Amino acid sequence: MDLHFGDSKPTDEERAAVDSLLGLPTSAWEGADDRTDSDLRWARGGREARERRDLLLPGLHAINDRIGWISEGALDYLCRRLTVPPAEAYGVATFYAMFAVKPRPAKVLHVCTDLACASKGSAAVCAGLEERLGAAGSAAGGLVWQPSPCLGLCERAPAALVIQAGVPSDEGSAPQPPAAPGATERVQLGGARPSWPAGANPAGPARAANGVSVTAPLPSSPAGLPVGGQAAEAAPRRYATAVIAPATPEALVLAGAEPAAAPAEPAAALAVPQAGQPGLSLLSRVGVVDPYSLDDYRAHDGYRALRRAFDLGPAGVIREVTDAGLVGRGGAAFPTGRKWQATASQPVRQHYLVCNADESEPGTFKDRVVMEGDPYALIESMTIAGYAVGADRGYLYLRGEYPRALRLLQHAIDQARARGFLGDDILGQGYAFDIEIRRGAGAYICGEETALFNSIEGYRGEPRSKPPFPVESGLFGKPTAENNVETLINVLPILNQGAAAYAAIGTGQSTGPKLFCVSGNVGKPGIYELPFGATLGELLELAEAPDTMRAILLGGAAGGFVRPDELDIPLTFEGTRAAGTTLGSGVVLVLDDTVPLPKMLVRVAEFFRDESCGQCVPCRVGTVRQEEALHRIVDKTGEDAAEDIALLREVGAAMKDASICGLGQTAWSAVESAIDRLGAYK
Ligand SMILES: Cc1cc2nc3c(=O)[nH]c(=O)nc-3n(C[C@H](O)[C@H](O)[C@H](O)COP(=O)(O)O)c2cc1C
Ligand code: SF4
Ligand code: FES
Repeated sequence: MDLHFGDSKPTDEERAAVDSLLGLPTSAWEGADDRTDSDLRWARGGREARERRDLLLPGLHAINDRIGWISEGALDYLCRRLTVPPAEAYGVATFYAMFAVKPRPAKVLHVCTDLACASKGSAAVCAGLEERLGAAGSAAGGLVWQPSPCLGLCERAPAALVIQAGVPSDEGSAPQPPAAPGATERVQLGGARPSWPAGANPAGPARAANGVSVTAPLPSSPAGLPVGGQAAEAAPRRYATAVIAPATPEALVLAGAEPAAAPAEPAAALAVPQAGQPGLSLLSRVGVVDPYSLDDYRAHDGYRALRRAFDLGPAGVIREVTDAGLVGRGGAAFPTGRKWQATASQPVRQHYLVCNADESEPGTFKDRVVMEGDPYALIESMTIAGYAVGADRGYLYLRGEYPRALRLLQHAIDQARARGFLGDDILGQGYAFDIEIRRGAGAYICGEETALFNSIEGYRGEPRSKPPFPVESGLFGKPTAENNVETLINVLPILNQGAAAYAAIGTGQSTGPKLFCVSGNVGKPGIYELPFGATLGELLELAEAPDTMRAILLGGAAGGFVRPDELDIPLTFEGTRAAGTTLGSGVVLVLDDTVPLPKMLVRVAEFFRDESCGQCVPCRVGTVRQEEALHRIVDKTGEDAAEDIALLREVGAAMKDASICGLGQTAWSAVESAIDRLGAYK
């Protein structure tokens, strides 16, 4: 592909995709067909152009969603519209796994091969697909399938996601019938998971193009006629997504043929084995409220915390959060009150609040379940956080592979705005705050806070060197408080119960409730809420872990393995640290003795090699060397493996010491723990 403006023209559809985001071009400089007199005297550039750079990622999404890939002509047109150099835009487009810059079929089937799915038979699913559809990456029948890192659906492993490019559901057609309130998102507690018999044509509810399950059996044509026969042939292909989990090759072939007809996903609350039980705090509403209803949220304590925040004032909110001892749940365990205070006290304006919902750590799915089961809780929490740090704008950076969370959160934001819970004068208190969702596009590294800022700003998602820290110079170079979803929703019980009552939960250094993502070889995988201080054994008893456990991975790929005889480790920041391991993002992945550990380690290494942004040498080279060495010893033990294990230690130490960001610094942790703690290769 040429890296300068070329002669390639966008197709009408590509143009329409970009224009649907940016509006029609107003000058020939922007790609309008006709040159006007003013075009000869005036060109967009400088500051005005820089201010639109952050629309690059949404623009790439718009093209990719509609066409399925990003052609030279489409990229060229988007670059003209945004005055972005095509070489830079190409660098951004190729950074993300969800985008393609070469032609590919409109339907892409992502099949998770990460740890939880591997322990639940993803290899057999891939083998079945190879038989039916050909090798991964080869196109057949308008579909291409490819292995994928963790899709954040680990409780229903093995998991897969189909994305069909096409016209957005709300463009050029009569409105879809509204979803019955909470019809599919609300749980029937104790209800069975819907199953889709192999070979059957699913007769379940139809799904609107954006994936919403609708009450009518078939989507409508532009004229409101049922789609079928000739009308169906004339209808444009619609954007659609389908989540298939647990996946079988047969179900995936069916979903791949017609994603819009795939059965609706089970309600989010089925991922919460404790749903509906008394004593829950963070998960108390999941499965209880209708996630589509602001009124239902309000009827279940919703927006009480925001009212208290207005009573306390910004400084009072920060004091409560500090006194409560809240510590970030995104992995770095930084005290939230300190972060907020540091942001609030910056004299520079404007301030931003960013919610990190990128959730790409293999084995992590708690944020998805919260966002799908209780979306207004996150919107309320972000509003309180924005108020505390003096931000009038919030960005919610959402993992690109979470279609249902996107739909629910966008709906919640729209409703909150319409009802005065977001906007220029929230609840008549004179506080202005609004939230914009930005979709990630398949890059684990964008969960690192500064990489996330670059991603929103329209650059490659590469971490920045720190200092300066985000509280001084974050998003768009302004003071920014960036927090994980789970961290933010803890603010609700803090304000509702008061700091002292909250701090009484857990231990002195790890206060409050904690969400754990339990997956792998357990009887009841899912999200569990426990007070900090419960032991690993207590958690695994709830999840019905088997006697045949071989290893437990704590903290995800960036975490470490522990042995089944270490179940008395307290699940606290200090307890796991003392035990030489980490809580990380709350992953607890159980592997039994049937799982080939060396192959799992190769998968971990492959993940880091793939996800390294390549910016610094220790990580870029080290992750490759690590994977090579693990491949070499996959069937070896003892002396035969010794030389490579020595090499792994050397490479691992270099990555830990000299990498710019947490990805490189932790890329060797799980492998190291498997060697030293589990005695892998002995
Ligand atoms: C490679 C990498 C990936 C990360 N991914 C996430 C993520 O998906 N979600 C998240 O909240 N934090 C993630 N983090 C941690 C963030 O950089 C940051 O510490 C966190 O979002 C701060 O929020 P908290 O203080 O509420 O924990 C990641 C860090 C690294 C190094
Ligand atoms: S450590 Fe790895 S992911 Fe992080 S900046 Fe360096 S190359 Fe990129
Ligand atoms: S969805 Fe497959 S490991 Fe998480």
